[in-house]
Amino acid sequence: MLVTEIIRKKRDGKRLDADEIKAFIEGYTKGEIPDYQMSALLMAVFLRGLDNEELSAWTQAMLGSGRVIDLSHIKGQKVDKHSTGGVGDKISIPLAPVVASLGVKVPMISGRGLGHTGGTLDKLESIPGFDVRLSPERFVEAIEKIGVAMIGQTEDLAPADKKIYALRDSTATVESIQLISASIMSKKMCEGIQGLVLDVKVGSGAFMKTVKQAEKLAKTMVGIGKSAGVKTVAVLTCMDEPLGWAVGNALEIEESIDILKGTGPKDTTALVEELGAWMLVLGGVSRSKEEGKSMVRNAIKDGRGLSKFKEMVGFQGGDALVADDISRLPKAKHCLDFCASRAGFVSKIDCEKIGLALCALGGGRKKKEDEIDPSVGFRVHKKLGAHCEEGEPLMTIYYNDEEKLEECLALLRESYVIGEKKPRKKPLVIGVIE
Ligand code: URA
Repeated sequence: MLVTEIIRKKRDGKRLDADEIKAFIEGYTKGEIPDYQMSALLMAVFLRGLDNEELSAWTQAMLGSGRVIDLSHIKGQKVDKHSTGGVGDKISIPLAPVVASLGVKVPMISGRGLGHTGGTLDKLESIPGFDVRLSPERFVEAIEKIGVAMIGQTEDLAPADKKIYALRDSTATVESIQLISASIMSKKMCEGIQGLVLDVKVGSGAFMKTVKQAEKLAKTMVGIGKSAGVKTVAVLTCMDEPLGWAVGNALEIEESIDILKGTGPKDTTALVEELGAWMLVLGGVSRSKEEGKSMVRNAIKDGRGLSKFKEMVGFQGGDALVADDISRLPKAKHCLDFCASRAGFVSKIDCEKIGLALCALGGGRKKKEDEIDPSVGFRVHKKLGAHCEEGEPLMTIYYNDEEKLEECLALLRESYVIGEKKPRKKPLVIGVIE
């Protein structure tokens, strides 16, 4: 294979065959093809695109660059969920145990915070002792014994994606719907799953700001899943305001426990029901989405979801007593209300800025190496469409470091717009792509 010939072909808008794609990605993963040649190919792909067959081959090559977890000896369907990232998005934490309590296995490999969006692993690590780095054997054992585990990406799963993602980050090739789709799907397909529910976020707190972009991403990922034989459904959901009332790692664990106890916020609970129902349908334990929703509601009502959560936390070395006593979670030293500068309706929230304000407090990373402060965050009092008086709290800020507060407040001031008229809100579930 002549590496430059492959780059030239894509540069000129021609199709690559599966062998060429495989050889290129394999060669790059092994270090035989240098960064500069992969950078050139990525830019050619970014500008010229890939057709469905090429995209499928690209994803398979990334998947094949590492190990695929074998769960075939475990009875039952294995189904996962992936969110494209949002603010206050703690859904996986109550969702995975609830679905597992209903008989579908959930081998969930999650990520850390990325930019303004929070990460499930960072949230879970605010539970004292919780280990997101289970060995592959312990991960499989967890799925076998309790039906659910939530861990991080390991070195041997889709290593090509890790290398390529780092290169995309420094070559302005991240924002390609096809490369994003292949990256996400290759990582999910390593889990040995038969079904996948994608929560594709749209709005001011999402990477996809418009429904059109989100639809394109959703269709691309569903197409990849289909051609790989993984039943995939994408649910487009609104991210124009934080999900629930809590933003911040330990605060979101507290809210996840509330959801599992049936006392969680309406929007987050509704999303657990919607996504859970799809997971049950794909897992073959429910015949319809409506039936699935009612199964999820019942598992929350009778405590099965909460007890599965405790089992999972215990198995992964965490303090399961947090479920009954949230004072065991890390707490910030100080709190301060962030108040409305005028009376009116909350007409817009720049949700991305809220995510960045959390990073400013230390609750997310500005650089990859940054340590997370699990205790800081916000309790949101006013969301889109709410009326407020001048001086009324819009949020309470929980913080530890006075010096970080100014940057956080500046971002919050920019994020809230108070107007005369009540705004029209998008529905929480915007659409479904099957
Ligand atoms: N998340 C991923 O996992 N990959 C991308 O390319 C973008 C977001």
